[in-house]
Amino acid sequence: MSDDAVELTEETIFTWGAPPLKFGAGAADEIGFEMSGHGVGRVLIITDPGISALGYPQRIADNLRRYDIESEIFDGVHVEPTDDSMNKATEYARVQGPWDGFVAVGGGSAIDTAKAINLLTSHPGELMDYINKPIGKAKVPPGQLKPLIAVPTTAGTGSESTAMCVLDILSMKVKSGISHWRLRPTLAVVDPLLTMSLPPEVTAASGMDIVCHAVESYTARYYTSFDRKKAEERVTYCGSNPVSDLWCEKAMGLLAQSFRTAVFEGKDNVEARSNMMMAATFAGMGFGNSGVHIPHANAYPIAGMVRDYRPTGYPQDEPMVPHGQSVSLTAPEAFRFSFESAPERHLRAAQLLGPDAEKANDPKEQLPSVLTRLMRDIDIPNGIGGVGYTEADVPDLVPGTMKQQRLLATCPRTPTEDDIASILTHSVENW
Ligand SMILES: NC(=O)c1ccc[n+]([C@@H]2O[C@H](COP(=O)([O-])OP(=O)(O)OC[C@H]3O[C@@H](n4cnc5c(N)ncnc54)[C@H](O)[C@@H]3O)[C@@H](O)[C@H]2O)c1
Ligand SMILES: [Zn+2]
Repeated sequence: MSDDAVELTEETIFTWGAPPLKFGAGAADEIGFEMSGHGVGRVLIITDPGISALGYPQRIADNLRRYDIESEIFDGVHVEPTDDSMNKATEYARVQGPWDGFVAVGGGSAIDTAKAINLLTSHPGELMDYINKPIGKAKVPPGQLKPLIAVPTTAGTGSESTAMCVLDILSMKVKSGISHWRLRPTLAVVDPLLTMSLPPEVTAASGMDIVCHAVESYTARYYTSFDRKKAEERVTYCGSNPVSDLWCEKAMGLLAQSFRTAVFEGKDNVEARSNMMMAATFAGMGFGNSGVHIPHANAYPIAGMVRDYRPTGYPQDEPMVPHGQSVSLTAPEAFRFSFESAPERHLRAAQLLGPDAEKANDPKEQLPSVLTRLMRDIDIPNGIGGVGYTEADVPDLVPGTMKQQRLLATCPRTPTEDDIASILTHSVENW
């Protein structure tokens, strides 16, 4: 900066990014054509065993062959990936490589695993080198990655459009991630027909992830309220901003229209599935640039410290709280807490998500009441008590949330330890 330039202290800049999108029924059958445009010869298809059994990855492999692209299917993705599962997947890819490109087929678990494989086979270094501080070294990917086409089969995470990869660090019982714009897939191919086979429980949980992405992003601190960053300090999340807001508003409208229908009639209602896929991708285009806050911060210990909860619709070999459930369980109370920092945004979110909802006497209750009504209707567990926690567990859960300082700082009312303890305590039961 030249000496006479004005030294700005308030942020004036926001950034926004998303991959190109190919959306619609049948889009998954155009992956061969899309990959061929990248001049690749050999591609690794990354998926989990459940999706593999549905035949989607094989269909993509057949389609790639039509364009003279050789492929192999790796179906060892762990549902909710861990450092261990990502290291094993990377090892497989390194030994069987080199690969010219990747196709991720599945929910957030497969897409996030593919992002890690792409990074660690394109550049030197290990997983921990790139994981966010203080857990990892937050090393910046030194250059371009290989082409990665992300093909979501859940309507939820929006991982096909985000620059983020989330994993459980088993030894520390925490979740962390890698976030850098280079991780963003080269192309998102979103085909709602792939979600017709989603069980109602996964439709409900991953749909609540969309709800939380949209509402947390929409109620996040506005980008101008952060301290000014230097060009090299910019991170992928910059707070709510005019572009993210648009996508989140649109996502909330689609959720109001189709979420319940997708859960109850998902087997044959293509319109509801399409709207949910659009909502997931749109919310990803929102929160993937703005960020999420308290409900997602609480989800980390809620999922990480699970004892024996095994949800229907998910693999039964180990206990887990699915991401979409874990983010929603404290959402009503978290939005009661954050209400005063941005009342009009909370009310607008409630209006978009529940256009026909009765007006609560206390405006602060409007959004929590829309959310709890939805969660009851679609059979989400009743609070953290519904997944096995009691009030006595709250002191053990709080430190796991407090470690997520980046997320907590995205809330316009930054919570203290006592605030988080109170939010968790009030979320043992939500109704
Ligand atoms: N990178 C990001 O931006 C981001 C954002 C939010 C969440 N996440 C991460 O994503 C993961 C959760 O992903 P998810 O909620 O999409 O679910 P998932 O990928 O974990 O899959 C859940 C279950 O649904 C099954 N399934 C998926 N699609 C199916 C289909 N079409 N038909 C039948 N069964 C199907 C899977 O086999 C699996 O058993 C978590 O690890 C979470 O932390 C990432
Ligand atoms: Zn999420």
